[in-house]
Amino acid sequence: MKKISLSRYLVEQQRVDGRIPPQLRLLLEVVARACKHISHSVNTGALGEVLGTASSENVQGEVQKKLDIIANEVLIEANEWGGHLAAMASEEMEGIYVVPNRYPQGEYLLLFDPLDGSSNIDVNVSIGTIFSVLKMPDGDRGVDEADFLQAGSQQVAAGYCVYGPQTTLVLTVGDGVAMFTLDREQGSFVLVQENVMIPADTKEFAINMSNMRHWDAPVKRYVDECLAGKEGPRGKDFNMRWVASMVADVHRILTRGGIFLYPWDKREPEKPGKLRLMYEANPMGWLVEQAGGAATNGHQRILDIQPGKLHERVSVILGSKHEVERVTRYHLDPSSPA
Ligand code: AHG
Ligand code: MN
Ligand code: MN
Repeated sequence: MKKISLSRYLVEQQRVDGRIPPQLRLLLEVVARACKHISHSVNTGALGEVLGTASSENVQGEVQKKLDIIANEVLIEANEWGGHLAAMASEEMEGIYVVPNRYPQGEYLLLFDPLDGSSNIDVNVSIGTIFSVLKMPDGDRGVDEADFLQAGSQQVAAGYCVYGPQTTLVLTVGDGVAMFTLDREQGSFVLVQENVMIPADTKEFAINMSNMRHWDAPVKRYVDECLAGKEGPRGKDFNMRWVASMVADVHRILTRGGIFLYPWDKREPEKPGKLRLMYEANPMGWLVEQAGGAATNGHQRILDIQPGKLHERVSVILGSKHEVERVTRYHLDPSSPA
């Protein structure tokens, strides 16, 4: 098998109709390098003393794990000096990180969830890094937080790296989804699948069932109908999976289909959801759409949401197109038939 490295793939993307500019190619190479570094740290586990909790909280009041902080630092250090970025924003930092004056400033903005699935770190279950790339608004001088507040449809690249049995980087630059698995001997990501497609129908759903009593009626209805199986209105049996790492759940959906829901619920009614629009929902939503799936908040396409603030949260329903359309219809028209 002829091995195509991520570097070669990106160079070819750059050549085909200039699909990605050189600076964006550089940015993606650097993000991939940082993910390799994080993958190595993750793999060392207790031996590398990377497990356990740090003595700090992030801006959302969540206790930070050591790896949340390590991964955040790795991404910043790798990306700040290359000249491709103006600023970065992270789930783990309150404000934006502007590229220091001693380095040249580029025209891109990088957003990330450095370590997704933190509750799985210490139990040796798949975790990941999620990233999203935006461009500075035209003619803008001096970067500030408002420059980041762009709808997901404005992303120029997005992806994630899942640290599981294999370390796999999944990427879109707006021309479909490609997957690259880390060849540790060569030290490079190697293309394993192009044009990833999510089947429009599925028999597998992913939701944290322990929150059922807090759900809104349309979500409850959808899951009840899945659980009713062959004898119910759907006329087929469904299977359920919940890894509690969005990267791992989305990776399964990109691989074999399925629907993922982290909906708004009544636990904290003033919060639109648990997941973060800019670091989780937008990049994952775009990947899923690029693979033929759909992503909504129950009422509208995730990528059309105009963010009001950096750490905004959102209700997320994504995956196999027909299922996402069904849940969205149950929200928009609760009396519509199954
Ligand atoms: P993070 O570790 O970045 O805070 O994200 C965790 C998210 C997401 O990865 C996952 O789908 C979800 O939280 C799991 O939440 P529950 O523990 O409520 O199931
Ligand atoms: Mn996350
Ligand atoms: Mn995280």
